[in-house]
Amino acid sequence: MNRVYIFDTTLRDGEQSPGVSLNIQEKLEIAGQLAKLGVDVIEAGFPIASPGDFEAVAAIAQKIKGPTIAALARINEKDIDRAWEALRYAEKPRIHTFIATSDIHMKYKLKKTREQVLAAIDKGIRYAKQFTSDIEFSPEDGSRTDIDFMLKVVETAINAGATVINIPDTVGYATPKEFGEFIRAIKTGVPNMDKAILSVHCHNDLGMAVANSLAAVENGAEQIECAVNGIGERAGNTALEEVVMALLTRKDYYGREVSINTEEIYRTSRLVSSLTGMPVQYNKAIVGKNAFAHESGIHQDGVLKERTTYEIMDPAKLGIIQNNIVLGKHSGRHAFRQRLEELGFELTEEELVKAFIRFKNLADRKKEITDKDLEAIVEDETRALPEKYVFDSLHLFSGSRVVPTATIGLKIGDEVVEEAACGDGPVDAVFKAIDKISQLGVSLSYYNLNAITGGKDAMGEVTVKVDFEGKTYLGRGLSTDIIEASAKAYINAINKVEYELSR
Ligand code: KIV
Ligand code: ZN
Repeated sequence: MNRVYIFDTTLRDGEQSPGVSLNIQEKLEIAGQLAKLGVDVIEAGFPIASPGDFEAVAAIAQKIKGPTIAALARINEKDIDRAWEALRYAEKPRIHTFIATSDIHMKYKLKKTREQVLAAIDKGIRYAKQFTSDIEFSPEDGSRTDIDFMLKVVETAINAGATVINIPDTVGYATPKEFGEFIRAIKTGVPNMDKAILSVHCHNDLGMAVANSLAAVENGAEQIECAVNGIGERAGNTALEEVVMALLTRKDYYGREVSINTEEIYRTSRLVSSLTGMPVQYNKAIVGKNAFAHESGIHQDGVLKERTTYEIMDPAKLGIIQNNIVLGKHSGRHAFRQRLEELGFELTEEELVKAFIRFKNLADRKKEITDKDLEAIVEDETRALPEKYVFDSLHLFSGSRVVPTATIGLKIGDEVVEEAACGDGPVDAVFKAIDKISQLGVSLSYYNLNAITGGKDAMGEVTVKVDFEGKTYLGRGLSTDIIEASAKAYINAINKVEYELSR
């Protein structure tokens, strides 16, 4: 009764964020991390949407154990069949089906009357029920649905067999008090509401998704749908880390339980940010770079004397890696392995050997290696796909009065292929030289450079997105030399395109 279930939709609504496109390995990696985090439900995708979505849901359903695996379907037989086909081998499958119920959506989008929508709900849920007992139903644009009609909708859905009723604030229009009252009206006004779990799914268009979700919990909601780092359609969804930490930190107020392994929060946030290419804003609650940074002298003094003077959460309990100097040029493999274990990384022997070589190379260029550096190296090393092109060498001729020219060497099997190109800047020249080798004709749609730590010798992390045949591919590259990091990121994205073409 006291429990709030955490339903994660990072891989479905989150993946609908503009510019985000995850491949199947990346989705599996995120799903595995979500299972470690301990979410109750993973919404793995929308199988009818594309063959890629279908394949990813099927792979997650087969491989990820622990959480319930949900798949989205519109309320029609074709969608539901496809969702079930993808889900059928899951340990705990859930079909999540939806149809819009607000007057505006029914009139303009569906061109259906209220009676027709009620009939579709009844028919669709009964149809889905033959496959699995766990059926979630969402009345889309729920918060803008007439309350008397909503009570009928929910009663009909539960009568047909829905076990979870999820009320979406699809367009992020609701305010906390109003949404709380709406949820209370459903909780108390639907005669068979005790036969289903009441859930909410809030969007952040007015920046109120977390507040609306918490107001719903105060008024009887038992499940929150959310996404890591708050990603999702438009301004995103309720941020998982924020609602979870609000419920835990203010348990004295909310009095509810969540079953989340908080020490995995930071790593999950990093993983989602790096695989989606969506940076986390510095001042983002819980996982932002500044969330535990104290700038004012008074605050720093307070925290040094007693952490709780200015910190309401312990960053260590969120798995936040502090930026302490841990290793250097003379550190051996034993110390390296031990520190990685302390940081919670589980590496195979082969991955460890590769990461250690990277670490030694980095130590030649950077005097002090921090936990954040180690984290970046390991993430980079363990996320490698089969690579057609391997970075070999880079020569650059650049300056304020010359046309930048790059010569790049890429290993293809045992052979090294070299090409040179001029560009508008050094990065452009490098990318053009790589294009000459790959001959794919990709187009660059995004470029971001981020320093992993402070200092002149900091590692630069470059994220690029390239578009190819209607799909977006993300690449990451890491180096103390930012042009080399750019080259590696671009090669990484091109390798992903090649991998997709080879399947
Ligand atoms: O925002 C929304 O209405 C949705 C539903 C499909 C739950 O994402
Ligand atoms: Zn949504």
